Amino acid sequence: MCGIVGYVGQKDCTKILLDSLSKLEYRGYDSAGVAVVQNGKLVTKKNKGRLSGLEEKMDKEGWLKGTCGIGHTRWATHGEPSDINSHPHGNANITIVHNGIIENYKKIKDFLESKGYEFASQTDTETVAKLLDYYYNGDPRETITRAISEIEGSYALGILFKDFPNEIFAVRKDSPLIVGVGDGESFIASDVPAIIKYTKNYYLLEENEIADLKADKITFCDIHGMSVQKELHTANWDMEAAEKGGYEHFMLKEIHEQPNAIKMTVSPRIVDGMPDFSESGISRELLNSFNRIFIVACGTAMYAGTVGKYVIERLARIPVTVDVASEFRYRNPILTDKDLVILVSQSGETADTLASLRLAKKIGATTMSIVNVKGSSIARESDYVIYSHAGPEISVASTKAYMVQISIFYLLAFELAYSNDIITKDECRRLVSVLQTVPDKIEEVLKDKDEVSHIASQLMSTENLFYIGRGLDYALSMEGSLKLKEISYIHSEAYAAGELKHGPISLINDDMPVIAVATQRELFDKTISNVKEVKARGAKVILVTHSSMSVDEEAVDFVIGLPTIDDMLMPMIAAVPLQLIAYYTSVLKGNDVDKPRNLAKSVTVE
Ligand code: F6R
Repeated sequence: MCGIVGYVGQKDCTKILLDSLSKLEYRGYDSAGVAVVQNGKLVTKKNKGRLSGLEEKMDKEGWLKGTCGIGHTRWATHGEPSDINSHPHGNANITIVHNGIIENYKKIKDFLESKGYEFASQTDTETVAKLLDYYYNGDPRETITRAISEIEGSYALGILFKDFPNEIFAVRKDSPLIVGVGDGESFIASDVPAIIKYTKNYYLLEENEIADLKADKITFCDIHGMSVQKELHTANWDMEAAEKGGYEHFMLKEIHEQPNAIKMTVSPRIVDGMPDFSESGISRELLNSFNRIFIVACGTAMYAGTVGKYVIERLARIPVTVDVASEFRYRNPILTDKDLVILVSQSGETADTLASLRLAKKIGATTMSIVNVKGSSIARESDYVIYSHAGPEISVASTKAYMVQISIFYLLAFELAYSNDIITKDECRRLVSVLQTVPDKIEEVLKDKDEVSHIASQLMSTENLFYIGRGLDYALSMEGSLKLKEISYIHSEAYAAGELKHGPISLINDDMPVIAVATQRELFDKTISNVKEVKARGAKVILVTHSSMSVDEEAVDFVIGLPTIDDMLMPMIAAVPLQLIAYYTSVLKGNDVDKPRNLAKSVTVE
């Protein structure tokens, strides 16, 4: 989704703005632009396409010069990607960058047109710029307050006023924005990676707080003009974590970071060999008090929740429902105060997940979130938050965030099973210790990545593909299939292996490879029967299973043999070759692995 940056300080800011925007490229974008106060005037350069295109434009037309400016990467919502629709938007007096969606922009536009305003773009953002201009009375804070009182929807706004050439103003609602504090310089950004090179210190802007940034002073006020004192946060990771570190792509780097990410996430939650969520204020009694659990999330986070469902139900015998957040929020869910709703989100800003959280709270359920980005909206608004410690995930295709999300679900399932008297303390300790061996097993899988790359080379010209599995293998197959389609652009579907013959088997022929995941030994023979059925119809079969399983060579074309661990934990091991298959297929097809077409990292609109 759109990325916002802003700089005010002593340095020439255009290069800094572009550099910071490049750190937000991972969010996905289709055009970019900057506005700088140059000799007292607001000057804008913007164009469709990548940041490199904007640089080339400035190489030709001249770089903007100034020490105060704002920048933007746009992911089109209202109006196609084009130079004119790119941000910043405004006029000679006020220029803005915006992330979010203004739902009542049409009404505002009609009103402003009736007052003689003309619009150049098709964007909702331009209406906000012109609305600010309409209300401008010489006082930026009053003007912003007046304008936002008329806006419906979500917004993070960076605003330049010509009359205040050394200041940036910012405000947000339902879209993230941070305010960075440097040495004689101040920043705004959608996310920490944009400014980590310059400062680790930042404030989190709250809903409808207005920030006024000068080089050496930042002040905040609420919509009533009352000054607000805020807590300064310090990022506990550095530039290196936000760089590729020698890997060809962030995705590959992040796949390799998984063993460490699991350790960082799991270790602080083990006390005396037992799961312990007291750091999040979650007691054993609390976990014992729920009749049902709802897991609500989007995309990969939702598939992590699907693994969570299987594991919690199997171990703790508590009914779990998994919902796609965009469905949950509109299906009028039946919830009571005895229900726990777990929201899962890497970014902590996904619009549908956030709306589901608010709905669940309103109905009276207890809410708990599993979130990676500290201080994000979902983390702040849930009753309880369990932070995953994956570090920044830059690749649009999520890998390490998925892995740490499921590791938290395992710990939760162990804890729920123990607190509900279903497993003994010894069994709980044993399960925890098995979970702690997962990072080493993943390292073993990563050593065989060349083999996986060879298998990927067999898939690159495929147009359609099936993933099949049963139980936890089915839960994992859904994530494997999502990963493949989002970055390789190969159409794939995940099917419960036993369900194939109820329809989709008609699609199987020698052009339809099948990736079969069979790590659950009690279901192995059944899945192999399904494998034989597709093989008999011409499918090329890739089987992912324990290396110790003996496999009928006639039934499969390739086997990816995995190190063995308790079957219940196998999704954590088997996820890795599925991630690698998607990765290598995408690389071999020459796709933009880290920034797949049409996708955005943080989906802050519904
Ligand atoms: C896929 C992917 C997306 C996200 C989804 C939710 O690789 O990354 O499906 O999982 O958009 O995002 P978060 O976890 O930030 O709520």
